[in-house]
Amino acid sequence: MAKKHTGSNASGRINAQPRLHQRAGEIQAYGTVSHILPLELEEPVRLEMTAQLNQMLADTMTMRDLYKKSHWQVAGPTFYQLHLLYDKHFDEQVELVDAIAERIQLLGGVSLAMAADVAETTQIERPPRGREEVPVQLSRLLDAHQIIIRDCRALARRASELGDDGTNDLVVSQVLRTNELQVWFVSEHLVNVPLVKAEEPVTGAA
Ligand SMILES: [Fe+2]
Repeated sequence: MAKKHTGSNASGRINAQPRLHQRAGEIQAYGTVSHILPLELEEPVRLEMTAQLNQMLADTMTMRDLYKKSHWQVAGPTFYQLHLLYDKHFDEQVELVDAIAERIQLLGGVSLAMAADVAETTQIERPPRGREEVPVQLSRLLDAHQIIIRDCRALARRASELGDDGTNDLVVSQVLRTNELQVWFVSEHLVNVPLVKAEEPVTGAA
């Protein structure tokens, strides 16, 4: 018979042995919310909001990782500026991930957390493992931003309809604004302007 772990040694006194390799059932299932919380938001509202916030969380975690992938794998004459810009945007997405996840928890829900669950949930197209050229990196990032921005607007409107002003505020003033600003900084790198020699002036105009 296996030795019972009682937390005390042979003499019956407390000992310092950590209890290792423990497992137990979940204390709350994914996709549920606590029934009663003093938030003045009914359970169905919190259920709908946490479901939509988890979608936004999965997409934001993927966006975050796409920036780090781009930061590591970028190549070419713009390496240094993009290497730095990608990491700045990564840091800002990290903050969004935490804010969204903690909003889900405070609404009584359960946040997605692990990469495998995020991969199954995100709407953002999976990039190849290998390196891609800069215009493709930039395009992938903009496509991902577009998905998140679209969902931000829909979620903000729905949160407002349901009276969840805190979710509306988070989505508009943090998630939407950050993604919009990042779109500007990324998309300006796809404008094809001359680097050294200006275009010839247009001649013969009346
Ligand atoms: Fe780095």
